[in-house]
Amino acid sequence: MKSDRVLEEIKDRIDIVDFISDYVQLRKSGQNWKGLCPFHSEKTPSFMVSPSKQIFHCFGCGAGGDVIGFLVQYEHLPFPEALQMLARKAGIQLQAVTSDRKRVEKDEQVRKALGDAAEFYVRKLKDSRSAAEYVRKRGISGETAELFRIGYAPAGWHNLLQYLKGRGYHDTVVRDAGLAVSGEKGMYDMFRDRIIFPIMGIQGSVTAFGGRAMDSSLPKYINSPETAVFKKSETLYGLFTAKEAIRQQERVLMVEGYMDVIICHQYGVRNVVAPLGTSLTPGHLQKLRRLTKEVVVVFDGDAAGIAAARRALPLLGQNDFHARILLLPDGDDPDSYLRKHGSGPFNSLLEKAQTVIDFLFRSTKGRKTDAVREALTVIAEMKDNLEAEQMLVELSGRTRIQESTLRAEFQKVKGRKSGEQVTSAGRRPVTAGNAEERLLLSAVIAFPGKADAVLARIDLNAMRDPAAGALFQRIAGASDRGNLASVLEGAGEEERLLFTRLSVDPGFDTALVDRVIEDCFAKIEKKKLEERLYQAREAEDIHLINALLIEKKQSIKGKRHERI
Ligand code: UTP
Ligand code: MN
Repeated sequence: MKSDRVLEEIKDRIDIVDFISDYVQLRKSGQNWKGLCPFHSEKTPSFMVSPSKQIFHCFGCGAGGDVIGFLVQYEHLPFPEALQMLARKAGIQLQAVTSDRKRVEKDEQVRKALGDAAEFYVRKLKDSRSAAEYVRKRGISGETAELFRIGYAPAGWHNLLQYLKGRGYHDTVVRDAGLAVSGEKGMYDMFRDRIIFPIMGIQGSVTAFGGRAMDSSLPKYINSPETAVFKKSETLYGLFTAKEAIRQQERVLMVEGYMDVIICHQYGVRNVVAPLGTSLTPGHLQKLRRLTKEVVVVFDGDAAGIAAARRALPLLGQNDFHARILLLPDGDDPDSYLRKHGSGPFNSLLEKAQTVIDFLFRSTKGRKTDAVREALTVIAEMKDNLEAEQMLVELSGRTRIQESTLRAEFQKVKGRKSGEQVTSAGRRPVTAGNAEERLLLSAVIAFPGKADAVLARIDLNAMRDPAAGALFQRIAGASDRGNLASVLEGAGEEERLLFTRLSVDPGFDTALVDRVIEDCFAKIEKKKLEERLYQAREAEDIHLINALLIEKKQSIKGKRHERI
């Protein structure tokens, strides 16, 4: 299928509100949906999604576009790849038609191989008595195993390789998928005799695997290497299975391991994710920020758990999360705790999770002033000033140090911090442009039926506003003027942004469209006349000045006439 047809097909099948909801928490606002912009940081929502026009636009930073534009900007994908991704989601066969074709096709193969490998491992779990027994012993029910697509990589060096080769995959694809490694004697399976935990992206497709040894041999877990489709530092295990619950409960639990996520889920605690054995990164938080801003960090109560929680706090604050901390007692992790005590006690521990200040005081050994200082540095990282303010009050209450003293100290800490701060990135300059030309454009976008009439009167070669001019050219040449994809094919960034902004916010009263169009033309004429008059005066061309003044008078008269 050709790519412009595909665009239309995709838009028929994928609703932009549904799609963006996986990335941004949206609320209905009049005809549109509104949320916090994922392209710049903000506290009040200025990011709008229009279901009727199937576009998004941010009034804060100017980002905008259709569903593909969103994916391109959000995932930093080249256009063809975004198209591929959406086509796949929409169930459309797409022939790659671009210069990136090779790469797109290869990534596609890698994804397919990962999906096929997951199925292979699931089957092998059913075939292996010892593996099935291990899974059962760890308390994982059949239903849970199915949901998380838990599998087993058999012992031996070439099981998966042979299977995938048999299905027509090239060696290099299997390797690029991180499923096999090259050794001296050729390639061999990455995962051997391990329980397999597929790692899925937010849309549910497999991007990598974790494999656990079934005994105490080391390493306990191995994970897929980074590949074209897997970035460990940005991936959260369980995000796909948790996203709905996170949205509903407006809160996420951050646990440490695969098994914690799985067992929590089985016990009805579904809003759970885990990083893959790494510290939290801004990349992780960015993925979550779209779903909620409440996070409870649930770590082991041991030294490592405490240290990990402490490292995470400033980062959480910087990324505008409101965090609480639950350290489980007696060396339990969520998995072992739940299996020992059940979900009732677990949930009541959750409700009693510590505030950041509480946690710092309990976990800092040594002098009280050390804890105060650490708390102040954490508070100074908070993006949300109100949140920071509340924490200062809490800190004062807890320490009985006067607020004024704390504030003075806080200003010092904050001063040090702001010295090294960079200005907020990501704002795009929005060029002013010519108001009348943009209004006319807006009118044509809102009422494609008026395009011919406006185009007949406008001088495309004398446009003042480059973006509006370019868009008028596109509209003039488009086969289907009401169709965004057809108008914007190959358009530059500035044009796209202007187009989407006007689509969401026409900037005039649509009931008065004809009047607005007339006014615009009148103003444009007037400006032209003023310009010529100015030039005539500069040139001291008396005749021309007189002629123009007469023209001006007539046009004013004419206008009065019209109004009557
Ligand atoms: P843990 O050692 O706490 O393991 O590692 P766990 O999740 O409780 O696993 P079980 O209960 O012993 O089976 C926490 C997480 O760190 C990563 C994994 O993601 C693991 O789930 N990890 C751990 C590794 O990547 N490699 C390792 O060797 C160990
Ligand atoms: Mn465990």
